[in-house]
Amino acid sequence: MKMRNILAIFVLFCGAPSMRAGGNSSEKVEGDKVWSVACQQCHNRPNPASYSNAQWDVIMHHMRVRGNLTGMEARAVLEFIKDAK
Ligand code: HEC
Repeated sequence: MKMRNILAIFVLFCGAPSMRAGGNSSEKVEGDKVWSVACQQCHNRPNPASYSNAQWDVIMHHMRVRGNLTGMEARAVLEFIKDAK
């Protein structure tokens, strides 16, 4: 399952000891975590205020593919960005 792979990547990147095997898959995806882990693999994180909400919608379509994010993660990041402005 895709979600598992992404969790595995998180564990790999942060060595997160808090990841428990058989964790609750209905757990809320946290946009700020995806943002700081996934979006930083390729470039520094841009300032949320640098783009309008409409621009972020388009950017996330592109970066979701690049970062191999699930729809849930992409939406969570988008929410985080819009809240952070
Ligand atoms: C696999 C690498 C990769 C990942 C992961 C990635 N990006 Fe990017 N990003 C790029 C590259 C390459 C560019 C420049 C080329 C382009 O605009 O397509 C870019 C450009 C951008 C831009 C500038 C777009 C513009 O039109 O000026 C923004 C904003 C951005 N990324 C945000 C994000 C966010 C938010 C995430 C996390 C969800 C993310 N990126 C994840 C590779 C990546």
